[in-house]
Amino acid sequence: MRTQVGIVGAGPAGLMLSHLLHLAGIESIVIEDRSRDYCENRVRAGLMENWVAELLKKTGVGDRLAREAMVHDGIFLGFNGTAHKIDFVKLIGKHVYIYDQKEVVTDLIAHRLKHGGQILFEVTDTGVHDFTGDRPKIRFTHEGRAQEIDCDFIAGCDGFHGVCRPSLPDGSWRGYDRVYPYGWLGILSESPPPDKELIYSYHERGFSLFSMRGPQLSRLYIQCAPDEDINQWSDDRIWNELTTRLGGVRPLKQGKILQKGITPMRSYVAEPMRAGRLFLAGDSAHIVPPTGAKGMNLAIADVVCLSRALERFYRDKKDDGLANYSAKCLPRVWKGQRFSYWMTQMLHRQYGGDYADFDMKRQLAELDYVSSSQAAAVSLAENYTGLPID
Ligand code: DHB
Repeated sequence: MRTQVGIVGAGPAGLMLSHLLHLAGIESIVIEDRSRDYCENRVRAGLMENWVAELLKKTGVGDRLAREAMVHDGIFLGFNGTAHKIDFVKLIGKHVYIYDQKEVVTDLIAHRLKHGGQILFEVTDTGVHDFTGDRPKIRFTHEGRAQEIDCDFIAGCDGFHGVCRPSLPDGSWRGYDRVYPYGWLGILSESPPPDKELIYSYHERGFSLFSMRGPQLSRLYIQCAPDEDINQWSDDRIWNELTTRLGGVRPLKQGKILQKGITPMRSYVAEPMRAGRLFLAGDSAHIVPPTGAKGMNLAIADVVCLSRALERFYRDKKDDGLANYSAKCLPRVWKGQRFSYWMTQMLHRQYGGDYADFDMKRQLAELDYVSSSQAAAVSLAENYTGLPID
């Protein structure tokens, strides 16, 4: 097989890259180790920055988003028994959208296939080769046959556990890592959310988040230990804990739990996000803790930058965009890291340790400050709704 850009991974980064390249007249093939069904049904974070929603609409993949996404004006910070609204529209005139990442993936897959895009699912044994020279290759097995894609460039959009980042030559890059002593237990439940907007709730027993996927479908999270055993969490225990941690700021209706799982939390950045003709984008290059839901948004920002750089290469025969790719992406990535870290440390309770009680007082002061200072609230609002892309 021969194409211009070989893309490893059919998540939001890989699919959006393929879509943007197609609009620029550049060919790509996407390969993915999971099934189409898995990609389209894995529940992930559901918060979309303002500009990402605009981009999807502007590039022709936003019809369902425009019909079905929930448009939110702000969030609530719950603490000390009160829910404090941070009103993004009043503060900076911007909304955010609730639309699960799996819906973005579903829409992009359908659109790519309709427009002749090639996506190969359930490939195995993927390897990226020869990208420090001029003719990179992706080798893999598909439907029992060994295959090779011969391409000009490889985009590594294969997530934190993918093969692309570990294939970067030793010594050409380094990772910056931070692991948190927290995890999130997330559930999807057939019940109305306690408010029509999200509540980030601080409680001395720990953080909880009250999000949603629809008027009768809640997406709820509870801070827990990173290595927590899900079997220790009966439905009753989950509901009791959520009710306690919501702190009485709203009544909480219970419903059938459709799904539950635990996510550990870490921050990670690989620098530079490129070696030769291999470019990393999205989670393969960086991951954030979930607080603030920046992951998909940062991934889309990377591929906007990469698609522009590739367009400049093919259209203007200039490789300055490619040379600057990493330097262009990283400032935004690090601001996303900073914001996610800040939200995480403001809202998570330390279980034990010498400074847990001091930190609880400091966190409550910080929440009080953010909820009462216009300057602090504007800062939260502009980061949460998405920093300007250019
Ligand atoms: C969701 C997840 C988040 O991490 C967040 O900060 C907001 C919303 C969600 O899945 O809905």
